[in-house]
Amino acid sequence: MSPLPLILDCDPGVDDAVALALAFGARDRLNLLGVTTTAGNVALAKTTRNACLIRQIAGREDVPIHAGLAKPLAREAILADDFHGPEGLGHYPSAEPRIGATSAAAIEFLIQTIEAAPPNTVSLAVTGPMTNIAALIQKAPDTARRLREIVIMGGARREGGNITASAEYNIYADPEAADIVFKSAGNIIVFGLDATHQVRGTKAWVDAMNALGTPIAKLAADMLAFSNALPANLMDTTEPDQPATGAPLHDPCVIAYLLAPEAFQLRPCRIEVETQSTLTRGHTAIEFREAVAGAFNANWVSKADPAVVLSLLLRYLA
Ligand code: RIB
Ligand code: CA
Repeated sequence: MSPLPLILDCDPGVDDAVALALAFGARDRLNLLGVTTTAGNVALAKTTRNACLIRQIAGREDVPIHAGLAKPLAREAILADDFHGPEGLGHYPSAEPRIGATSAAAIEFLIQTIEAAPPNTVSLAVTGPMTNIAALIQKAPDTARRLREIVIMGGARREGGNITASAEYNIYADPEAADIVFKSAGNIIVFGLDATHQVRGTKAWVDAMNALGTPIAKLAADMLAFSNALPANLMDTTEPDQPATGAPLHDPCVIAYLLAPEAFQLRPCRIEVETQSTLTRGHTAIEFREAVAGAFNANWVSKADPAVVLSLLLRYLA
């Protein structure tokens, strides 16, 4: 099977870093056409620098990186540096990468790359606020419709929120962008907290990745260890009888899906985003009843197999 053409839009971020590592490593299965960056966990200059650093450590400087928009469509940027460290990669020393981002802006890169490929061949993975994707849809809707699929980390239903009680960070950071994407009638697969909380990077995972001995596996292990060391009051809440055994691996789930879709269960749904309320800004209302929803607009990932995610990481970070 020929490698899947893929563009990854991200805001590295410790879990984005592991998703990037997996995407860079799986070069036999993924034809990574490029990486685009957005403001999110940390400011755009840092997410872009971080993506270039991870690319360098992964030995994949053949993959172009393009910086995207520096702030949400209609809001001030809200960082998540409590969860990712001030530089965005935990305690990893912030160094300047050998090669920086390509000058062409992300939106132009997305348009040119998707237009140059046959329709329904390019997959787009999105692991940060959806600002760049919404801008693509607004500027070139027909181009966005050429995408094979858009696989997103964002939202929550059963699991509540992680940046507020009502909302997951990626949606909360740019709810207007998420609203545009969910209304775009694309082939959208959504990994909310309901799925990603089933995939936790336990200490055993950290040890297994460190045992691989490669620089990129060490980086991934450091990212997980940083998340596992966050103060308890920042960690995702779990029911008292289900103590969190490790931080959830949100963003790597998106890449794992592209490599092993059989490890995940999807449910057709209608997702709508709260953009007006202050209290519930960024809430994702997810309806599975077609009679109530009217038309479905996405597939919600309801079940994830963590063992498959770990096996992919061990295989492709080695
Ligand atoms: O809520 C988790 C998401 O927000 C992840 O993508 C993490 O990197 C942050 O961006
Ligand atoms: Ca992210």
